[in-house]
Amino acid sequence: MSETTGRKFALLPMLGHTKGKRSPVTCALKCDNACSGEVCNTSSNSYFRDIASATMSRRAALGFGAAGALAVVLGSAATSAGTAVADGGTGLAAAAKDGFGKSKLQFTAIAPVDAAVDAVTVPEGFTWQPIIRWGDPMFNGTPEFDLNNQTAAAQEKQFGYNCDYTDILEIPGTKGRRAVLFANHEYTNDAIMFPSTMPAADVRAVGAAAHGLSVVELERKNKNQPWTYVKGAELNRRYLNSTVYELTGPAAGSPLVKTKDDSAGRWIKGTLGNCAGGTTPWGTILSGEENFQGYFAAPGTTAEDKRYGLTSSATARKWELDEKRWDTRNAGYANEANRFGWIVEVDPFDPTSTPKKHSSLGRFKHEGANVIVAESGHVVAYSGDDERFDYLYKFVSKDKYREGDRKHNMTLLSAGNLYVAKFTGNSPAAEITGTGAVPADGAFDGTGEWLPLVVNGVSAVDGMSVEEVLVYTRLAADKVGPTKMDRAEDVEPSLHTGKVYVACTNNSDRGKAGKEGANEVNPRNQNRDGHIVEITETGDQTSTQFTWNLLMVCGDPAQGDVTYFSGFPVNKVSPISCPDNLAFDSVGNLWISTDGAPSGIGKADGLFKVTLDGAERGKVEQFLAVPRDAETCGPIIHDDERTVFVAVQHPGEEGTFDAPNSYFPDYVPAGTTPARGQARAPRPSVVQVFRG
Ligand code: FEO
Ligand code: CA
Ligand code: CA
Repeated sequence: MSETTGRKFALLPMLGHTKGKRSPVTCALKCDNACSGEVCNTSSNSYFRDIASATMSRRAALGFGAAGALAVVLGSAATSAGTAVADGGTGLAAAAKDGFGKSKLQFTAIAPVDAAVDAVTVPEGFTWQPIIRWGDPMFNGTPEFDLNNQTAAAQEKQFGYNCDYTDILEIPGTKGRRAVLFANHEYTNDAIMFPSTMPAADVRAVGAAAHGLSVVELERKNKNQPWTYVKGAELNRRYLNSTVYELTGPAAGSPLVKTKDDSAGRWIKGTLGNCAGGTTPWGTILSGEENFQGYFAAPGTTAEDKRYGLTSSATARKWELDEKRWDTRNAGYANEANRFGWIVEVDPFDPTSTPKKHSSLGRFKHEGANVIVAESGHVVAYSGDDERFDYLYKFVSKDKYREGDRKHNMTLLSAGNLYVAKFTGNSPAAEITGTGAVPADGAFDGTGEWLPLVVNGVSAVDGMSVEEVLVYTRLAADKVGPTKMDRAEDVEPSLHTGKVYVACTNNSDRGKAGKEGANEVNPRNQNRDGHIVEITETGDQTSTQFTWNLLMVCGDPAQGDVTYFSGFPVNKVSPISCPDNLAFDSVGNLWISTDGAPSGIGKADGLFKVTLDGAERGKVEQFLAVPRDAETCGPIIHDDERTVFVAVQHPGEEGTFDAPNSYFPDYVPAGTTPARGQARAPRPSVVQVFRG
């Protein structure tokens, strides 16, 4: 990389080695080439050895404490479910009574779209428009986006880059005409964001300001109209690298998280690598700090650094040139990387609130976290560690959810038990051939247990304190023998059934020489297309025992891929690969957005509906496709309003500033001067798809 420009990617180790359609640029910038290095998990554990979650959050009204003054009805399902609870509710019990239903959002599946198509493709009868784009001004006085004259001061008040998790929470008392949109900003791509003449220091500063989180108010004339964002609205907020987060739970105050800037070990500036997330029953947003390691230079020699992928290489963005804390070899900053890799909780209804990082949920490459309230009243949060051969986790709160007591509920993720999953298959190992062929009993299935890491405030891991377990969770989990998964991304409980869905996106290394081979819950070697695990807790959601089966083994049957869709005819599904983000509609269907298309067919990423019940269980129908080089993220399904939202992440990722690969979403014609606020360049955006 040239320090004069700071944005040329001289080293793209994934060139020629990426899977599906993932670009080497995405690998370099999003994941810090996690797949090109050694597998972080070299442990020797055995082969098998109110409202909750995004859907529940939309099913009932939220009870806010006296200080909150707001009672939020979250999204569409509250109206469609007929079980809305005016002052909160545990969600699962109410929702489960509904059973599955027929969605108002009817569509004819689209055909797979060629990867080179630079368009959002939606079903017949639907149209789309961006709600908010990278660079859109969020505050009064913020300048309009000006591609060729970007400044950090402007970007700090403009919508950030590359959204992943999104949710839209209706503001109560507005008759459905006002809402807040949350979006995170996972990472940046200097090569397509900035002109080559821009000084390197400015590139670093603007790029840094394009990270973090955004909350912005939306408005519409009525429920039949699409949303638009409101510049200068009261709840609008940008969360930047300078924003202070409070670390909660047992690791707060630990020597393991103290630095020169924070001798208390409780106040952390910034959030990084925010990927998927979830919405809590009490109307806050959770966001997962995933590939934080790519922002740090480090010794890279310790067991802890190695297990988290921290290396001594210069970072892609070189923020370490501006702030010493991004190089943990600098005096006083040895623990700075320990302050990232957490689940973040944000209150989108209070722009003055201090966001939290919850140590009780452990530290790893959190894809996201989704919450459900168990029958017992305890809050349960599920979270995947998105790395090849890493694990699936579950948190159970110490205290119980209290309807209507938002202040109390906002403390629930600060204390509780932490577990990691072990899966056992019920078919003979010889029947798991590594091809994806279904074993003789007709299912990939079995039993499982949640192995304790921290229980009742006490470490369950030999030789490690609670603080050590929570800060070095990967190393703690290695000691108790959980199952190594094929990159567990989004993990989402259904509020209709309580079943938990785990998107295992892929694992190109499974079964390779020296690497663990296929097993019943990860049944394919060199798993390029991924699969979905369906977990049924034994009894209450807080149980330490479960059963499981695979809902699907992804791929393109027409290309000869060995696939499985819970018995649904494989020739009647939309081909699907690399499942990533999950969401539910109001009647219990699962929706999946993808980060890759079936290998070899050159198709775009998409959003897919999957029927979970009845004769059509396992049927996959593609709803949309995203533009060239883009990944589909952050789906929100407001099916009772016949509308869907997605974040279009990294459009035109493989292009350059001077030769863009995508013109989404402004599509300014060649030779035309862009209108004010528009750009002839790809702009990651949150998009609404609606009838029209
Ligand atoms: Fe940011 Fe695991 O995807
Ligand atoms: Ca079986
Ligand atoms: Ca993801």
